[in-house]
Amino acid sequence: MNIFSIPIHMCELQEIDNNSLVSYAYSLRDNNTGRTLSNKGGWQSDILNDNILNMLLIKILTNISYYANLLDVKKDKTISFTNTWLNINGQNDYNINHVHDGFISGVYYPQTSPDMGCLRLENHNNLKSISWHGNNFNNYNTHNAENFLVSPKTGLLVLFPSWLEHGVEPNSVNEDRISFSFNTRIENAVS
Ligand SMILES: [Fe+2]
Repeated sequence: MNIFSIPIHMCELQEIDNNSLVSYAYSLRDNNTGRTLSNKGGWQSDILNDNILNMLLIKILTNISYYANLLDVKKDKTISFTNTWLNINGQNDYNINHVHDGFISGVYYPQTSPDMGCLRLENHNNLKSISWHGNNFNNYNTHNAENFLVSPKTGLLVLFPSWLEHGVEPNSVNEDRISFSFNTRIENAVS
């Protein structure tokens, strides 16, 4: 029996113009110093609100609806974006562990490869380091894992609970890892 589980949704989005998103990210960086939150090195945009993102946001919302069904969200609730931002991590850049403010959060990769820094999702049991650590288990599985690494891939979308602690491992490649991050909120639908 497995009494608690963390839903992670991953899929590849089709028909997204990743080249335009990459150009958009660089154009923003050229005109904006950005902000520093969890990022160590790299560049993170301010909050975005631009039509170029419309198709991407529609496809993400379709997947959020699927995810909400898994969670059995009530039909009189709506889930909407609260903030979206772009990240450019160059070589050796990474993000320290953090959580997001929201209901469901996620990331989409317009430009990356598996060596550009995994998304590291942490086991949310704060006591795991006392005896639930790697020295005591033969192989990691869904019961004993301290964390789960998502290998980044261009076109991949990942959804996770906003409360789930996560970080990004260093980009080991001399090429930019570009990701699009977002938070959502849940509220009563307007009737
Ligand atoms: Fe994050």
